[in-house]
This record gives sequence, C-alpha cells and structure tokens, in this order.
Amino acid sequence: MAQQSVSTAMEGPKKAYKGKKLRVAIIGCGGIAQAHLEAYKSIPEVEIVAGVDINADRLKNMRDKWGVPESALFGADLATGKTLSETAWRDMLKAMGDKIDAVDVCTPNGVHCQPVVDCCKAGKHAMVEKPMAMNVAECKKMNAAAKAAGVKLSVGFQHRYRPACQALIEARDNGVFGDILFVKVRALRRRGIPNWGVFGQKKLQGGGPMIDIGVHMIECAYEFMGCPKPVAASANTWTYLGDREDKTHVRSMWPDWDWKTYTVEDLAIGQIRFANGAIMQIEAAFAAHVKEEVHEFYAMGTKGGCDFPSGTIYTDQNNTMVNITPAYLGPEDWNTLFRKKLQNWVNGCLKGTELDASGEDGINVQRILNGVYDSAAAGGKEVPIK
Ligand SMILES: NC(=O)c1ccc[n+]([C@@H]2O[C@H](COP(=O)([O-])OP(=O)(O)OC[C@H]3O[C@@H](n4cnc5c(N)ncnc54)[C@H](O)[C@@H]3O)[C@@H](O)[C@H]2O)c1
Repeated sequence: MAQQSVSTAMEGPKKAYKGKKLRVAIIGCGGIAQAHLEAYKSIPEVEIVAGVDINADRLKNMRDKWGVPESALFGADLATGKTLSETAWRDMLKAMGDKIDAVDVCTPNGVHCQPVVDCCKAGKHAMVEKPMAMNVAECKKMNAAAKAAGVKLSVGFQHRYRPACQALIEARDNGVFGDILFVKVRALRRRGIPNWGVFGQKKLQGGGPMIDIGVHMIECAYEFMGCPKPVAASANTWTYLGDREDKTHVRSMWPDWDWKTYTVEDLAIGQIRFANGAIMQIEAAFAAHVKEEVHEFYAMGTKGGCDFPSGTIYTDQNNTMVNITPAYLGPEDWNTLFRKKLQNWVNGCLKGTELDASGEDGINVQRILNGVYDSAAAGGKEVPIK
C-alpha cells in the first residue's frame, strides 16, 4: 500500500482545502516533532515536505510514517545509518529552495538558534519549540533575522491555550483581580529526570528543570500577569541526585537516566521582580522530595486571586468571601493544545495575522530563565535583568 503522507491524510472529503498551503520542513524529527505532526493532520493548510535529523531512524520514520520522500530527508544516510551533517538544514534549504515556505524546529535547545537564523535569512517562516533558545543573546539574533526577512517567528508555548488559563486571562481583563501583585509558579517532579534525549546536558540544553519544565508554567503565569517587564532576579540551583549512579536505581517512571553526563540542576528556586512592583516566585525540579508532581501557579491581586490549572477564583462578592469554581472549561488534551499553537503560527504565515507567542514574547520568558541562572551563578545575589 502506498504510504500516506500528512498532506494526503488530510485530503479526505471533510478536509478538502483549496487555498494556498504552507509547505513545512521539520528540523529535528524526534519526540515532540511527532506531536506536531499529529496536530498538523488537522491543519489542512499545511503540507509536510521535508525532514532534517542527525539520526537515520528518525528520518526513516519521516519516510515510513509521514510519507516524506527520501529525496527530501537530510542529515543522515538511511542505508548506513551514518550522520552526514550536524547543520543539514543548510543542505535542505539549498536542495528544497522555493519548494518550502517554513520550518518547524524541534531540535534540542542548543540547536534552536542557528537553524532559525539560517532559515529566516533564507526567507522561511519559523516555529521553534520551547524554550526559545539557550539565552537572551540567541533570542535577539533569531528575532533580528526574522524581522529583517519579514517572516513570522513563533515559539512553541501551548499551555496558554489551556482553557483555565484563557478563562483566568478573561477574568483579569474584566478587572476581577485588580492589580496582580504576586504569582507563585511551581513545576516540580518528584523523580522525573528524562531518560531520553539530552535533557541532562547543560551545554546542549542551557539548564535543567527551570528551562525545560519551569518555562511552561512561567510562560503561562507571565501571560496571565499581562507580560510586565522583568527587572531583577535572585535564585539558587542545586544538583544532589541526577549525577549519582546509585539514585538511578530508585523505582520511578523514567529510571536509568544518563547520570554520567548529567550537568544540570535538580532543583531551582528563583524570584523575579517586575517593573510594576509585582513579584514572581518559581520552583522547578526534575527530582524534589515532595509529596507529588505539580505544574501550577497561584496568583494574588488587590481584588482577587486564583489557582491554575483549577481556574478557581478567590474574591469578595456581596460582602462575602467567595471561591468561584468553573463548572466547565473545555478540552485540554495535548493534540488540541498543539493544534491551537501551530494553527496560530500557520495563520500568521499565510494570512499575516498576529502571533500569540511571537519571538518577541519568547525573549521576555528567556530573560526570566536567564535571570534565574545568572543569579544562581552569582551565588544567589540579585542580578539585574536587561
Ligand atoms: N512544547 C512541549 O511541550 C515540549 C515537550 C517536549 C519537548 N519540547 C522541546 O522540543 C525540543 C526537542 O525535544 P524532544 O523531546 O523532541 O527531544 P528528542 O531528543 O526526542 O528529539 C530531538 C531530535 O533532534 C535531533 N537533532 C539533534 N541535533 C540535531 C541537529 N544538529 N540537526 C538535526 N536534528 C538534530 C535528534 O536526533 C532528535 O531526533 C526541545 O527543545 C524541548 O524543550 C517541547
């Protein structure tokens, strides 16, 4: 049977789409790229036309599962399994020329900046997975390249599309919270060091749980706060478990991680001050001795407070303190959230509409992350965020 590509899979009667398609190349065809490819199935404006990876098995999967022809796969030799180039997106750009419109970058964090810069310079729109990059300097280069070429650069943040976050933002816009004074962000795993990819390697990832999972709740909470300007950070980070061989044997969901190459923090605690006086505190861990895993934030304002992801609001009504709990919020499955974030970028590329999470939004989240790491490196002293 002929392989069904993402585009042919979309060509059923219900999804017939006659308009201009966005022809996308995937750069980094690993775990999260699969979630993107699943989501693209319900975005009929997209056609996946090329794939780039250093791992031949990942490219074979692009051919066998997603129907990308071998001639449009770059970075590794499918016959021998050998990696051909660490910068094969350049070969892809050269070979595909104007047969692609955009790239979706799903490589490890250390390989976000260069492909985005090169592809934007070649006039291609870009989606880049979170975190935007390793540091603020890289984000600036990426934004400058996109701006100069007049292409759309979006960062892969999907938690802002969760119905509870959207509902809390709507309540904020309606004045329910007054001035938001304080937000506490928590992304804590009891034992969740990834045992795949390069998540434990600082030089390839930029950091550990703060940049990997903290970033999601930070972005969500920061959006809820209305994106005030971050001005200072104080923080500390600790590694006490991930680099210990004996701890890989503790029964857990993802045991046997690579403790020998583990150079990131297990736990990071930070405090960010904003220009409007608000404060954000952040706790992020791959391995913390806590009761259970949490990914959440809570906020306190002059008129009300709230919890995410419950969406509960705490305020006063009719001279009574009340807790307002949503009766229905709507679906927040992974596929729906990814479809929403990708659709927003696709609309931006094809119709010029505004991006929800642009490169300019991504850079402020990166400023917060880097503030935490810079302060930790300075022994916990408060450092300015520029
Ligand atoms: N939005 C989310 O919820 C979410 C979830 C998981 C991961 N991510 C992000 O996605 C990115 C990738 O994570 P993952 O879990 O898919 O990792 P992964 O290891 O499963 O996939 C990364 C892929 O990139 C390839 N790669 C590495 N270097 C390359 C290079 N120089 N050129 C081409 N390909 C290269 C690897 O071979 C691999 O196939 C990370 O930045 C991560 O933070 C986002």
